[in-house]
Amino acid sequence: MSSEIHLTFLGHSAFSIKYGEWHLLIDPFITGNPASASASISAADLDPTHIILTHGHGDHLGDTIAIAERTGAEIITTFECANYIKGKGLENVADLGIGGGRNFPFGRVKFTIAHHSSSAPDGTYMGNPAGVLLFIGGKTIYHAGDTALTYEMKLLGEMNQVDVALLPIGDNYTMDARDAVKAVEFINPSVAIPMHYNTFPIVEADPEVFRAGVEAQGKQGVILNPGETFSIAGASSHE
Ligand code: NI
Ligand code: MN
Repeated sequence: MSSEIHLTFLGHSAFSIKYGEWHLLIDPFITGNPASASASISAADLDPTHIILTHGHGDHLGDTIAIAERTGAEIITTFECANYIKGKGLENVADLGIGGGRNFPFGRVKFTIAHHSSSAPDGTYMGNPAGVLLFIGGKTIYHAGDTALTYEMKLLGEMNQVDVALLPIGDNYTMDARDAVKAVEFINPSVAIPMHYNTFPIVEADPEVFRAGVEAQGKQGVILNPGETFSIAGASSHE
């Protein structure tokens, strides 16, 4: 089994995380995502074992239901999002509350506070949005979802050794690069990767501003173009 964790940016807030036999997607908005299209990424080519969904907005829910219907992947999401998805006929859905975690065969998922909103494209109320702490292969990956800068991120950094933080920098709906740099100070990850920018004109941002702020803190800032992969060494395998 490979001990590498492969983190591929699929555009906007969508990521693919591969570790050994496990393949996770987070917020797989692919169809209608210009960033995904620019890298010829197609939802039909994705074959996950699990899908983590932070909230119900269309630019996150995206292809979640279609991919799960095709692959049988288990969806891990909030209580209200889970009910909505079950209402579409899917049964393999895990529902977590904010602040709650659950162990899965690949590792552990814990939902964190995200200051944002959540509704389905059809207007259905989807409860509170989430950020994600993903514990996999001995590493900790934080996907902030859509969120404002919040002081709770400081607590998150104090209580976890975050290896990679995925943070929105696109402004308007979420933090801008300046706020995201402050978030990096709070979370204290080894590596920070920007997301939720340059997909549409309304979230236009310069990722180099973010990277410069991250590197000024002595941390690694990594900018991924859609389709690019960042790999980290996971714990050694036990075969
Ligand atoms: Ni949103
Ligand atoms: Mn969004």
